[in-house]
Amino acid sequence: MSHTSSHADYNYTVVRQFALVTVLWGIIGMAVGVFIAAQLVWPQLNFDTPWLTFSRLRPLHTNAVIFAFGTSALFATSYYVVQRTCQTRLFSDGLAAFTFWGWQAVLVAAAISLPLGYTTSKEYAELEWPIDIAIAVVWVAYAVVFFGTLVKRKTSHIYVANWFFGAFILTVAVLHIVNSAEVPVSAMKSYSMYAGAVDAMAQWWYGHNAVGFLLTAGFLGMMYYFVPKQAGRPVYSYRLSIVHFWALIATYIWAGPHHLHYTALPDWTQSLGMVMSIILFAPSWGGMINGIMTLSGAWHKLRNDPILRFLIVSLSFYGMSTFEGPMMAIKTVNALSHYTDWTIGHVHSGALGWVAMVSIGSLYHLIPVLFGQGRMYSTKLINVHFWLATIGVVLYIVAMWISGVMQGLMWKAVNPDGTLVYSFVDGVVASKPFYFMRFVGGCFFVVGMLVMAYNTWRTVFAPKGALAPEPIEQVA
Ligand code: HEM
Ligand code: HEM
Repeated sequence: MSHTSSHADYNYTVVRQFALVTVLWGIIGMAVGVFIAAQLVWPQLNFDTPWLTFSRLRPLHTNAVIFAFGTSALFATSYYVVQRTCQTRLFSDGLAAFTFWGWQAVLVAAAISLPLGYTTSKEYAELEWPIDIAIAVVWVAYAVVFFGTLVKRKTSHIYVANWFFGAFILTVAVLHIVNSAEVPVSAMKSYSMYAGAVDAMAQWWYGHNAVGFLLTAGFLGMMYYFVPKQAGRPVYSYRLSIVHFWALIATYIWAGPHHLHYTALPDWTQSLGMVMSIILFAPSWGGMINGIMTLSGAWHKLRNDPILRFLIVSLSFYGMSTFEGPMMAIKTVNALSHYTDWTIGHVHSGALGWVAMVSIGSLYHLIPVLFGQGRMYSTKLINVHFWLATIGVVLYIVAMWISGVMQGLMWKAVNPDGTLVYSFVDGVVASKPFYFMRFVGGCFFVVGMLVMAYNTWRTVFAPKGALAPEPIEQVA
């Protein structure tokens, strides 16, 4: 597939749009992350203003990074990969444009309604019912464009990246529609269709599979295209990719109850969720190993290619967080980790280490292709970004591991007479230095994103074809 001969036949407009907003939303979402991290160190930063309080900005952060940054990256890469690997143009340019503008409208509605305090109070599903309907409509259009393109493909088989993208699109549709079933009582207020423990179960079936199918399967689709491309090697094992695909999707769907250990949920459900979570380790590592081993015979490229470094380090974080997750799903471990910063550390080793870094690496590969260049404006700046991001994630998660385990141990400690050794506030005071460390880590990560924005800007506005590919050995 040469770039030049096929350019005209593909719809790159929508891919370019989604790729650029990914960088923009990444900066916004992570800057809000840094701001709420700062609020946890200096609480006066809420300025006594309701729409600047932590409680309203936290869901703004999670929605912005997951649905604006992460999902835009998935739109961009899935539209690109499905066209390239099926050797055909998107099913419908009009519908594709609708998904871009529709999705941006949803995101703007989120960015306005969350600070104003409108929320369903379901985590990662906070948006109120009119926005939920808009999400469902855009998502169905996305499914039509994606699967329509698969149907009209000119290749005989369907490349494995598309299996992962397809599973992500289909499952997120089902999750969103089922979990958002709600009864509107006014223009911006609704109540869940479900009650009590059933509501909690539906919510965490949704929540965990948002992790499994959006933050995992979708990004594995990205990995399966961009890692082999950037490494210039075929996927290590095609058979492994198929086996771990089916194992992953068959297992993930059962693991939700590990979010509800020691609650009113029936005990057997909790145990089932725990067992399925432990099994999930195997297919997760199947994907991680398949990605990393794709470099066999090309390890030397890591020395000089910062894009490849982003991709491979992201896989290492994927491996780490999918080892940590099954551990935390064990009830006795969860008794310590739940309600502590350990969870927050786990989340961000997945979210920053895996999701953000694999997206960044893929975008650095993608942007020059989309804008008719042979490479990004500066490979040195990609390398600077790589180190800022890596140092940032490590500072973040190490801080949260220490404060998390410390909180768990402090809150569990009892005197011989059964009274608590520490008050809750003692735990908060002890956490403060680690909140500062997390804030610093977040700043590193956001500065890296700003470097990326500058590099992207210079690439997009460089004269066409001015940036010739250079032998990667000479740059870094
Ligand atoms: C500069 C980067 C980032 C910083 C500084 C940051 C900071 C934060 C902070 C302070 C919280 C609240 C923690 C608490 O309540 O104690 C949080 C929560 C969260 N963040 Fe981030 N974040 C960043 C990037 C990301 C990214 C890229 C993602 C996803 C792709 C993400 C996903 C989440 C999620 C899912 C939660 C909620 C976790 C939970 O409820 O357990 N964050 N973040
Ligand atoms: C084998 C894979 C994984 C398993 C078994 C797993 C398991 C867990 C467990 C047990 C918790 C703590 C639940 C609690 O105490 O409330 C958790 C929280 C979380 N995990 Fe994972 N995890 C896995 C992979 C990942 C990955 C790769 C990501 C992100 C990309 C991720 C994102 C999250 C988020 C966002 C939460 C916080 C949910 C919340 O309470 O708001 N997980 N996970």
